[in-house]
Amino acid sequence: MTTDGFGRVSAPAGASRGKAEAVPFPEGGVEEAVKKVKELIAPELIGLSAEEQERIDDLLHELDGTENFRNIGGNTSYAVSLAAAEAAADSYIMPLFQYLGGNLANELPYPLGNILGGGKHALGKVPDIQEFLVLPVGAKSFREAAEANVMVHRRVGSILKKRCGDFTGGRGDEGAWAPNIGNDEALDIVSEACEEVSDEVGFKVRPALDIAASSLWNEEEKCYVYVRDGLRRDSGEQLDYVLGLIEKYGLVYVEDPFHEEDFESFKELTGKVNGCLICGDDLFVTNVKRLSRGIKESAGNSIIIKVNQVGTLTDAWRTTDMARKAGYKPVISHRSGETTAFQIAHLAVAFRCPIIKTGVMGGERIAKINELIRIEELLGERARMAELNI
Ligand code: PGA
Ligand code: ZN
Repeated sequence: MTTDGFGRVSAPAGASRGKAEAVPFPEGGVEEAVKKVKELIAPELIGLSAEEQERIDDLLHELDGTENFRNIGGNTSYAVSLAAAEAAADSYIMPLFQYLGGNLANELPYPLGNILGGGKHALGKVPDIQEFLVLPVGAKSFREAAEANVMVHRRVGSILKKRCGDFTGGRGDEGAWAPNIGNDEALDIVSEACEEVSDEVGFKVRPALDIAASSLWNEEEKCYVYVRDGLRRDSGEQLDYVLGLIEKYGLVYVEDPFHEEDFESFKELTGKVNGCLICGDDLFVTNVKRLSRGIKESAGNSIIIKVNQVGTLTDAWRTTDMARKAGYKPVISHRSGETTAFQIAHLAVAFRCPIIKTGVMGGERIAKINELIRIEELLGERARMAELNI
């Protein structure tokens, strides 16, 4: 609450977190986080202008005093940092995306939708690969892009019902189907549904993956363990496997194909592909230092932006800006443990991220999708889809 504005933001949580991320909560959990806001942060904030985003974010770092928000918690700083921006936008009676991005912020991101999955996002016998995604690259508006993703989700559901006798209709924590099938079979089904839906809507919807390979990596044995498929792959075999999938299925995007310290394999794969984004999530954790190393080593050509991985809006903006200048596509993203907060929809437009990863099903995912549909309506004739240039 400021003299003439109000902002309220809730922070999400992740299940497959990168090791170098900001620590989400202080010791003592949520209660301790609330205490820190009341006793440590609020007294210092009173008297500052909500518009002084950098100063507020610097203050959060200062009050925390560690490299990774261990003391106050990354989620605490995320909520304070974003709520300040919300309150400032509110005091101008402006939507957040316009307040942060200015009047020229008129590009809508393509929604990268999670259709089927496993890994750490579902229990039981499920694919090892965390997310089988789709990107409606040919859509002319955000609304038709979002509708195409829902169509693929439904189509995959019908195929699973028909072909898998033991399919219960179960879904993982991002709303993606979680069937008892192998990784290649899952990709076959998603890619078949993509082709059918592409024909129906008249534009291309392409398959994509988040392998979340740090969850598969066994550091002692130096290999990726695919439990569902009963396979182990060393780094070279993993590279050949992923490259094969990209070629066979025409994948448009692959996130975290290797574990979070393997910059070298990211580099090798990026050098070998054409027309496919190789994206770092656990690899970069939205952190400028890790991204600059990636840029220097040509590891990847895309980066996931999760504000709560670094803790403040200013930090996330610096990383996004650095990525764009280096030719890396920034992909703003939800977390698996989301809330119904809608702010990342505004950040996607304000930060000019050409892609938003925010799921297809579930109220907490739809909150972001609906907000982008509203932004598109608000922009009216000025609304454009971002340029993907993949
Ligand atoms: P999360 O990760 O479960 O930590 O949110 C999702 C992802 O790997 O993209
Ligand atoms: Zn990921």
